[in-house]
Amino acid sequence: MQTSPFSVFGISGSLRQSSFNSMVLKRAAAIAPEGVEFDLFADIGALPHFSEDCEGELTPTIVHDFRARIAGADALFVATPEYNGSMPGVLKNALDWASRPTGESVLADKPAAVVGASPGGRGAVRAQADARKVLTAIGAEVVDRELPVGSAHELFDEQGVMLDQETENGLADHVALLVESAGGPAPDEPDELATYSLECQRRALAG
Ligand SMILES: Cc1cc2nc3c(=O)[nH]c(=O)nc-3n(C[C@H](O)[C@H](O)[C@H](O)COP(=O)(O)O)c2cc1C
Repeated sequence: MQTSPFSVFGISGSLRQSSFNSMVLKRAAAIAPEGVEFDLFADIGALPHFSEDCEGELTPTIVHDFRARIAGADALFVATPEYNGSMPGVLKNALDWASRPTGESVLADKPAAVVGASPGGRGAVRAQADARKVLTAIGAEVVDRELPVGSAHELFDEQGVMLDQETENGLADHVALLVESAGGPAPDEPDELATYSLECQRRALAG
């Protein structure tokens, strides 16, 4: 039985201050079940451009730290924007760093899930498909579920609080599937008193 918290390393592929994908990622962390903790990576923009000429001894500390945090996590959760039908270059660059050295990638066999948010109606599905494809190519165990978060500009208030219950439920299901696929703790039991109270209200209104 797992005694330490089940840890999920979270990456947002956006550098934007008010990024919807970063909001989705933070929301996933906030609603994660008991016993599941997210470690959110805030330095994706500080990773240098990957070059095979600069591997080995020249690999910067920030890359070593990035890889170590992935290695130490039980699972990976990626929130990707869609740029021109795919994931942003900054996210691909981060995944390329994490894929090296060949045969020693910290992503090999790592359980992973991908979500994508966009102001458009399709919710970054093409970026999600590409991110899943790349993670699979690296050797991660990617859950076979997409979570398109469309019309993202309508889903949050100014403090980043999720306003849409359906999206929130979908996000909770996504996290639960990832945790389950990685052998993590079972989801929290539904709150019996909250269910009782809601059902009583429903019956009272129905007369
Ligand atoms: C260069 C560029 C290309 C974009 N291409 C797409 C696209 O192909 N599909 C889409 O749904 N949105 C596209 N968008 C809009 C992004 O979805 C939008 O800027 C979104 O807010 C980015 O995610 P973020 O809020 O997490 O930063 C594009 C934006 C930029 C800057």
